[in-house]
Amino acid sequence: MTRTCDFLVIGSGIAGLSFALKAAKHGKVLIVTKSNEDESNTKYAQGGVAVVVDKKEDSFEKHIEDTLVAGDDLCDKKTVEIVIKEGPERIREIIDYGTNFDKTNEGMYDLAKEGGHSEFRVLHYKDITGWEIERALLDQVHSNPNITILTHYFAVDLITQHHLGQFVDKSTSDINCYGVYVLNTINGHVEKILSRVTVMASGGAGHIYSITTNPTIATGDGVAMVYRAKGKVRNMEFIQFHPTALYNPGEYPSFLISEAVRGFGGILKRTNGLEFMQEYDERKSLAPRDIVARAIDNEIKKSGEDYVYLDIRHRAKKDILAHFPNIYAKCLEIGIDMTKDMIPVAPACHYMCGGIMVDHSGRSSIMRLYACGECSSTGLHGANRLASNSLLEALVFAHRIYEDAIKTFGNNVIPENIPDWNEHGVQLSNEDILVTHNIREMQKLMSDYVGIVRSDFRLDRAMRRLGLLYEETEDFYKKTKLSVKLCELRNLIQVSYIVVKSAMLRKESRGLHYTTDYKVHAEPVHDTVF
Ligand code: FAD
Ligand code: SIN
Repeated sequence: MTRTCDFLVIGSGIAGLSFALKAAKHGKVLIVTKSNEDESNTKYAQGGVAVVVDKKEDSFEKHIEDTLVAGDDLCDKKTVEIVIKEGPERIREIIDYGTNFDKTNEGMYDLAKEGGHSEFRVLHYKDITGWEIERALLDQVHSNPNITILTHYFAVDLITQHHLGQFVDKSTSDINCYGVYVLNTINGHVEKILSRVTVMASGGAGHIYSITTNPTIATGDGVAMVYRAKGKVRNMEFIQFHPTALYNPGEYPSFLISEAVRGFGGILKRTNGLEFMQEYDERKSLAPRDIVARAIDNEIKKSGEDYVYLDIRHRAKKDILAHFPNIYAKCLEIGIDMTKDMIPVAPACHYMCGGIMVDHSGRSSIMRLYACGECSSTGLHGANRLASNSLLEALVFAHRIYEDAIKTFGNNVIPENIPDWNEHGVQLSNEDILVTHNIREMQKLMSDYVGIVRSDFRLDRAMRRLGLLYEETEDFYKKTKLSVKLCELRNLIQVSYIVVKSAMLRKESRGLHYTTDYKVHAEPVHDTVF
């Protein structure tokens, strides 16, 4: 089956939905999404959206400075200025769409603080901000006749000249994207979707590690698709570990204890009840994430315990309940009353700071293909994302992509001779368990050798093991009928490969990439591009 549209959007998180709502004013929009329509990293965002609201205390300059400092000298300064200065207008739009943010009794926005922020500037809706944004965006999408959502459609590969039999490699300067092959996961058929413009909004890749805060959709599909289509990806070594995921053995993915809890006064403590962050950074528990995650990692390694504690017991119960009802309920479910007990926490893979390389209009290196949100690398985050900057980035870049795409989409002709998906010679697998085994093996090796603290020796080990998994998986893929699990395994391995390769090339410690072999910054400052 073939479908055609003006704007194809892959993913239904904040990036995909906010672009779709704008593009629908100009043409037919088709959103494909691999799970339920709301399943996304967006839905689980807790802390909120960082944006300059209170111009008396705060300023664009302060937010810019905080972002640059967290990014450890690797941010694209122009991108940082764009996102922070255009942010307030984009926030007004989602408020107009019906998004609620908490207010104080005086009717002002109740601004929270998170690690690395010098001011209170995080807009939030209790501790379920992402859920609220996703709800409001989907409500708008449902009432828009120009937008169709296909749920349980898994994007497999981008369609380019390669599928017309032309030679394409990384040096080809005019690779064009004509759409995507998608697996209808309900009936198992692969369909062809042709589009004038494609926006990749497929989110992150938390599941390259065995411990992650990301829901199971986060398997790096967009980055892997673009890499296979010979597009450029950048700075993939910078994987952010959130310092405080709830330590609850057996739960997968991990539940997040928002950084806003530390912004609200929460203090990190050893299992003996003593504070330790003052030994690592003067900002203590509210230092940027890379520093706090590394400190906890070190504490855990020294003590032999699996966690440290987060202590918020000194705040009034009614305030804790008002700000963190979801976190309170979750902790209570496993027997921890956070108003009386300390919360056991440990770092977990949380966010992909690199991604598909884009310019200031969200254009990837492949023509007619944009990337938005967590799958993209705009230059905002540099070597370490500042907390709550990613929802803002998605909104700002969705708008910029929209402005750029509507100028050109009418001229984009879709070739007529694009072939259907070729399933010739493939067989149904009766050994799906092998896919599951390989996913687990890959996650374990990434966790063991490519975690918070790295070394050349560990990266070499990881690469050798990945090589074997890559060969096995490619072999299986060529012979086997497509399944979501198999495609995800293939994508996870490809993304892991890029992470490890990028980490090997960075002979320095910077931001989230910390290696015991090169403990300081190297000059000149550089991006890692594949
Ligand atoms: P997502 O919201 O992840 O959406 C990706 C979409 O793509 C999904 O619909 C998915 O199903 C779909 N998809 C993926 N692959 C395919 C495929 N092959 N085919 C079809 N569809 C596909 N950031 C903040 O700024 N503030 C916060 O408070 C905050 N809290 C967070 C808390 C948690 C627990 C997590 C996990 C993240 C948090 N983040 C936060 C990060 C932020 O939520 C994400 O970076 C952001 O929501 C990403 O939005 P997105 O639209 O790019 O991707
Ligand atoms: C959190 O609430 O701690 C997550 C914020 C973020 O990832 O930006």
